[in-house]
Amino acid sequence: MSSKIRAAITGVNGWVPEYKLTNQELERMVDTNDEWIRTRTGIKERRILKGERKGTSEIVVNSIKGLLEKTNTDPNDVELLILATVTPDMVFPDTANTACDLLGMKNAFAYDINAACSGFIFALATGAKFIQSGMYKKVIVAGADKMSSIVDYTDRATCVIFGDGGGAVLLEPTESGHGIIDEIFKGDGSGRQYLHMKAGGSLKPPSHASIDAREHFVFQDGRPVFKAAVKGMTSTVEQLLKRNGLNKEDINWLIPHQANQRIINSVASILDFPVERVPVNIHKYGNTTGGTIPLCLWEWEEKFNKGDNIILTAFGGGFTWGSIYLKWAY
Ligand code: COA
Repeated sequence: MSSKIRAAITGVNGWVPEYKLTNQELERMVDTNDEWIRTRTGIKERRILKGERKGTSEIVVNSIKGLLEKTNTDPNDVELLILATVTPDMVFPDTANTACDLLGMKNAFAYDINAACSGFIFALATGAKFIQSGMYKKVIVAGADKMSSIVDYTDRATCVIFGDGGGAVLLEPTESGHGIIDEIFKGDGSGRQYLHMKAGGSLKPPSHASIDAREHFVFQDGRPVFKAAVKGMTSTVEQLLKRNGLNKEDINWLIPHQANQRIINSVASILDFPVERVPVNIHKYGNTTGGTIPLCLWEWEEKFNKGDNIILTAFGGGFTWGSIYLKWAY
């Protein structure tokens, strides 16, 4: 028994919109084909949030509504919401605050974190620190993106990859030895040249010219991102194992950010980690950026056992990357 306060995930919920954008439909939109998409990315379909005035908050609110119900949590008891997203409803205010209002979480303060595809694990570690301080008892961490709002559906190299969706976890204190144990995070700002949105920020505010040049969409040079993702995820997992005196047999689940099936396969293969213990749902959701890891936790929740050793690993724009080691608490 450890007397150290740790943040345990005590509930998880995910939400994806109903509309399925299939590879076949993409074949009719851009010069691509189902075979190329499946063999290069592993993706068969992705979900798209349709409808007027529906932003990322729609995903966050639906995820958290279900989470509060599942965990029997009174919205008034939530003290903090941290949301990882690159597609906030608006540049400001933060979408986490909007979600608190829509959910009736009147006593919570809230803010967004932008670390692209690493956003959820960065946010999770941040939320955990508030719990570990002993000052907070109920923190929700969400990861959600409406990637369809920033994807150029004339650019075949990016539009096949991304989808909309997300999820949320409840963090509560425990002294049982379960919960978030360790993390290793890294960054390299020079990677921004390979993955970014050119306009819409303070560097290049929106203008007719920026719209005409299609600069309000994800720009990606896929190959360097692919290589850096494999290296970043494997190296931080290896360091985390070593630092905690663990070997791969001790890990029940390795949950990678769902960027590309080939990236996931490479990470598993380099680490010599059995694929049966690597949750994958990219074939049905694509890359939902901040949403992928909570969506995996949600879909695999039933398979987890109390005490399971789990590693979360992610890589994203920035570049940002890292891994978290936790012990499942229920
Ligand atoms: N359909 C058909 N052909 C396509 C295509 C599509 N959707 N997209 C690109 N191509 C073509 C390219 O034009 C290129 O043709 P060329 O050889 O005639 O120039 C060819 O396929 C190979 O392109 P390339 O970009 O080298 O392919 P790739 O094997 O690197 O795969 C990605 C492209 C984007 C799938 C891959 O690089 C990747 O997944 N990168 C990481 C992306 C990622 O995970 N980002 C999220 C942040 S973590």
